[in-house]
Amino acid sequence: MNITNKIPAIKVIAMPKDSNADGDMFGGWIISMMDLAAYMPARKLAKKRLVTVAMDEITFHKPVFVGDCLECYAEVEKTGRTSVTVKVETYVERKDSLDREKVTEGRFVFVAIGKDRKPVPIINDTTT
Ligand SMILES: CC(C)(COP(=O)(O)OP(=O)(O)OC[C@H]1O[C@@H](n2cnc3c(N)ncnc32)[C@H](O)[C@@H]1OP(=O)(O)O)[C@@H](O)C(=O)NCCC(=O)NCCS
Repeated sequence: MNITNKIPAIKVIAMPKDSNADGDMFGGWIISMMDLAAYMPARKLAKKRLVTVAMDEITFHKPVFVGDCLECYAEVEKTGRTSVTVKVETYVERKDSLDREKVTEGRFVFVAIGKDRKPVPIINDTTT
């Protein structure tokens, strides 16, 4: 993903409440930020109720520390009949040096659902 001139879907400072005893951020917190970031372009595209059905190829390349500024970039990679796949790449601006590093990446798959919670078509469907 080329993030030049791209606006992050989520930008947040890593806080102590989401870290372990050594000051590393919990992977689960980072994934929840990525899931939220992925939801942004998915909701814009689907304009329907969405649920996350899968998170694939999540990779933690580098640690995130308390005080780092986390930025999640998200873009739609694939649209299926009822699903949309969003690629997310996460960067941090380190607290002290302000160096920028890519820390994680992954794919998030959302499914559009109707009132009965069953999958519904995303595109060209005005009945749901
Ligand atoms: C999402 C859910 C409605 C899908 O129901 P389902 O009967 O399995 O749906 P289907 O088999 O018809 O698949 C629907 C779409 O999801 C895709 N899909 C299903 N499982 C998938 C997986 N593990 N990985 C990637 N895509 C998947 C299918 O390929 C299909 O996509 P398409 O229509 O674009 O081709 C159901 O699994 C569910 O409710 N899961 C719980 C969701 C949830 O609570 N998430 C956490 C909170 S948001």
